[in-house]
Amino acid sequence: MLRMTKCPLILAPMEDVTNPPFRKFCKRYGADWLYSEFVSADALVRSISQTMKKLAIEDVERPVTIQIYGRFIDSMVEAAKLVEEVKPDFIDLNFGCPVKRVAQKGAGAGMLRDIPLMVDMARQVVKAVKIPVTAKTRLGWDSEHIIIDDIAEQLQDVGIQALAIHGRTRSQMYTGTADWEPIGRVKNNPRIKIPIIGNGDIDSPQKAKEAFEKYGVDGVMIGRASIGSPWIFQQIKHYFETGELLATPSVAEQIAIVKEQLTGTMEWLDEPRGILHFRRHLAAMFKGLPHFRELRIEMLRSNTKEELWHVLGKIGERYQ
Ligand SMILES: Cc1cc2nc3c(=O)[nH]c(=O)nc-3n(C[C@H](O)[C@H](O)[C@H](O)COP(=O)(O)O)c2cc1C
Repeated sequence: MLRMTKCPLILAPMEDVTNPPFRKFCKRYGADWLYSEFVSADALVRSISQTMKKLAIEDVERPVTIQIYGRFIDSMVEAAKLVEEVKPDFIDLNFGCPVKRVAQKGAGAGMLRDIPLMVDMARQVVKAVKIPVTAKTRLGWDSEHIIIDDIAEQLQDVGIQALAIHGRTRSQMYTGTADWEPIGRVKNNPRIKIPIIGNGDIDSPQKAKEAFEKYGVDGVMIGRASIGSPWIFQQIKHYFETGELLATPSVAEQIAIVKEQLTGTMEWLDEPRGILHFRRHLAAMFKGLPHFRELRIEMLRSNTKEELWHVLGKIGERYQ
């Protein structure tokens, strides 16, 4: 049986976000468990080089999960064996991705419309590899079909070792608010013995505390709130330990973080792609600074490291 540390904070898998440089930052700031972005099983089986790159993990990241998705059992089994070779701590099966190109083809959240296939896929992957297999899913396809209670039992029965539940349906995509009641219900189902990880809209220490205390989950998974604020894990931990809210890092610290994180991302990709990729993080940084709009636009329009470093210099001077 998988054992969890006390109140673990888990970095959610996010496509184009949770690559090694970002994961390492979240780890530094207290994330207890990291997930890769989802990796296409079909592309892995075909050895597509850009996809193979997504399997890169380093020991400092542990425990680390590599998540795979696909609609065919054969390729998921094959992909899981390939993933096993790079020795992550866990392999996760994505049964929750709502985007059309994935879900409409029957993969990701598409599996919520074919439970026998989902369960059979989980069973066969579990059988094929020696490392623990986990799964991440949503409440159901839509509000008429909230089937998470049943899925959780079935996945546990075929050997899934932990289940992360995002408290939305596929139809909701990312709209509305996450419903944690069904997550709590699954957690409190006496038949469920595996760790249940709650996910959805956790963006403050108080919400993380409520997730553990009110819903009793074994772990809290954080996605969007970590973008541009990888220190959220540290803030939550500090709150748990002291009851006090830790201030956001100073502007000077944030600039240092941007430089280090961006340098890592540029090394991981290359300068132009690294900058493009990093804009999502930049857009979410330096929140709440007065009269920041123009500098933010300038920052987001920078196309080279030199331009960006220049803007960061201006930010540092203005907001010392
Ligand atoms: C940009 C982005 C990419 C995502 N990619 C994945 C993914 O690859 N695999 C997955 O299981 N979920 C993915 N998700 C969903 C998140 O893991 C998480 O379930 C969702 O964002 C809700 O959590 P949050 O409110 O803490 O962000 C993604 C979400 C975002 C915003």
